[in-house]
Amino acid sequence: MHEPPAAGGSSPAWALILGASSGSGAAIAEAVARKPGLNVFGVHRGRYPDTARELEARVRDAGRDVHLRQADASTPEAAEAGADELLQRAGPRSVKLFVHAIAGASVGHFLSEGPDRLHPRRIQRTFDCMAHSFVYWTQALVQRDLLAPDARLLGLQNPLDETHLGNTGLISAAKASLEMYVRHLAMELGPKGHRVNLLKFGTVMTPALRHVYSPEALARLEARHAAMNPAGRMGTLEEVARFVTVLVGDDAAWFNGATIDFTGGMTLKLLDLVLNP
Ligand SMILES: NC(=O)c1ccc[n+]([C@@H]2O[C@H](COP(=O)([O-])OP(=O)(O)OC[C@H]3O[C@@H](n4cnc5c(N)ncnc54)[C@H](OP(=O)(O)O)[C@@H]3O)[C@@H](O)[C@H]2O)c1
Repeated sequence: MHEPPAAGGSSPAWALILGASSGSGAAIAEAVARKPGLNVFGVHRGRYPDTARELEARVRDAGRDVHLRQADASTPEAAEAGADELLQRAGPRSVKLFVHAIAGASVGHFLSEGPDRLHPRRIQRTFDCMAHSFVYWTQALVQRDLLAPDARLLGLQNPLDETHLGNTGLISAAKASLEMYVRHLAMELGPKGHRVNLLKFGTVMTPALRHVYSPEALARLEARHAAMNPAGRMGTLEEVARFVTVLVGDDAAWFNGATIDFTGGMTLKLLDLVLNP
């Protein structure tokens, strides 16, 4: 039997982070372990073993418990199995924060006749990973009474709803669904005291980006973002993660069903850049 860890009580509540081994998920997991001091239950498939180990060490260093589940997180079955394990580990009413930070999407074109055609399997996988899994996990958490009082649920969005990159149509479509899921879940969970929001932020440098791009391409990416962002530089993972520690706090309790713009004004200057190069 588990005692429910009351918010503010002696037993720390938990953060459930899907995609905890890299990028945004890892940075957020570490930040919330430090403030407000949440234990971390993370899910990842094992492609970043070094950062996963580093995260475990950092959460323990913050004096918190950590459990990383190595499994797919994108399907209804995966959500059920993951939530069962979380219940075993953390007990009912233990999840103060749920962050959906998995990234698995196909880029390409809907009408391409070449290898980048967005065929049905790619569409299904992308929607499962980037959108539907947010609902599957929320359902699994609610069914098991895992949400702590005043729990915060957070999806992550990028600025591709405002301006488009040619090969990212499928990602944008999945994110549009995620946004609607967030709003409707906010309505369904609001009366129970929980809050569901979407945090929108611009490009931040992650190990995945560093892996995909050459140093020259990365330098160009940084220079372009410096030109585009009013602050004259790229945003950072640490800034995003620190802001999530604010969102989990009492002062942010009135945000609900919101798409919170943390892009630093990334798209404000686009017309200016095109028309007045
Ligand atoms: N990076 C940015 O600039 C940026 C900007 C705005 C919004 N976002 C959003 O932030 C979220 C995370 O992006 P990111 O760039 O931080 O990602 P990332 O660095 O690529 O990390 C993704 C994480 O998710 C895990 N993962 C991916 N697919 C999974 C699956 N099916 N099951 C379980 N774990 C899975 C990965 O580990 P395994 O591969 O080992 O499973 C890894 O831990 C995305 O929703 C993205 O749209 C990112």
